[in-house]
Amino acid sequence: DVPGLVDRFGRVARDLRISITSACSLRCTYCMPAEGLPVIPRDELLSATELARLVGIAVRDLGVREVRFTGGEPLTRGDLVEIIQRSADAAPGTPLALTTNGIGLEKRAQALADAGLGRVNVSLDTLDREHFTRLTRRDRLPAVLAGIAAAHRAGLGPIKINAVAMRETLHDAPALLAWAIDHGCRLRFIEQMPLDADETWKRDNMVDADELLRVLGERFVLEPVGRDDPSAPAEDWLVDGGPATVGIIASVTRSFCAACDRTRLTAEGSVRSCLFGDDETDLRALLRGGADDATISDRWRAAMWGKKAGHGIDDDDFVRPMRSMGGIGG
Ligand code: GTP
Ligand code: 5AD
Ligand code: SF4
Repeated sequence: DVPGLVDRFGRVARDLRISITSACSLRCTYCMPAEGLPVIPRDELLSATELARLVGIAVRDLGVREVRFTGGEPLTRGDLVEIIQRSADAAPGTPLALTTNGIGLEKRAQALADAGLGRVNVSLDTLDREHFTRLTRRDRLPAVLAGIAAAHRAGLGPIKINAVAMRETLHDAPALLAWAIDHGCRLRFIEQMPLDADETWKRDNMVDADELLRVLGERFVLEPVGRDDPSAPAEDWLVDGGPATVGIIASVTRSFCAACDRTRLTAEGSVRSCLFGDDETDLRALLRGGADDATISDRWRAAMWGKKAGHGIDDDDFVRPMRSMGGIGG
């Protein structure tokens, strides 16, 4: 084992999440402002070649074991297939995954799978078209469902569905779970974090895991089965005796920060040690300045030393991060 990305609390980051754009085809209220995020000029985004170089360094020199591409919406990048292909070449055998809203997957799922993508997580909060349209500010539910179907056909499973627990869609949750089970998807509900651009999140009005479990419990019998592994964000519940399960990501009320194994890169090529830490360490300048791999990996290691102990949402002096979710990538 190579010496990994260790922080001052002894956590080791083995899971790399890379945001590759801030652009998105939806405008989910918990993530983006209605007008979208400022466009990042093309030459400020890491290119496919630069991304692959960093993936190679992370896996070879820093102990990263899984790489996930996020956004914004990663499918808005025309060169996503090339990004996957080059990353797969740079880190043979390392699982590559995508977190996406599904729009555009219908056309590209097979090409992505052929390029080396292993699996996808698709965000889908409700099957009620009107509710979907209000929450995402776009009438695109059919495109998302077509994307999920195409991902299945391309073998990009097991597909996980991410649903942020929102008051507006809380009562759609049981139908979504029934649908996910029927369609062979692993559904996970996520507590909303204060990462919306409009800053409407309120601790005392958010839907927490307990409330969500009560609503699901009106239709299903749920039994806790724990986590896949200690650093997995979701706790799983057996549904009606199994084998189906539902996951709950209780980021706020049952924070898993103590077991966090993530390191992040922004679309502009900076390391972010935590969703909630605003410290960013620029690697793009090193890449473009001709730095060697050792210099880049030293800088990356140093960046992780600044990682916070936890998100601190419940602390009196909590301040939201500067970026909203769409700019971090979840
Ligand atoms: P899997 O490997 O498939 O389990 O992926 P994942 O759950 O790590 O990734 P995904 O992009 O699907 O994220 C699901 C949810 O977990 C999103 O709401 C993320 O924001 C949240 N999440 C992921 N990593 C972290 C983290 O380090 N801290 C917190 N608080 N939430 C996280
Ligand atoms: N809180 C929790 N999860 C969020 N996501 C987007 N915004 C938030 C938020 N404010 C989720 C999306 C996506 C994942 C990357 O993050 O549903 O699936
Ligand atoms: Fe786009 Fe995902 Fe943010 Fe929704 S949650 S606006 S799909 S980046």
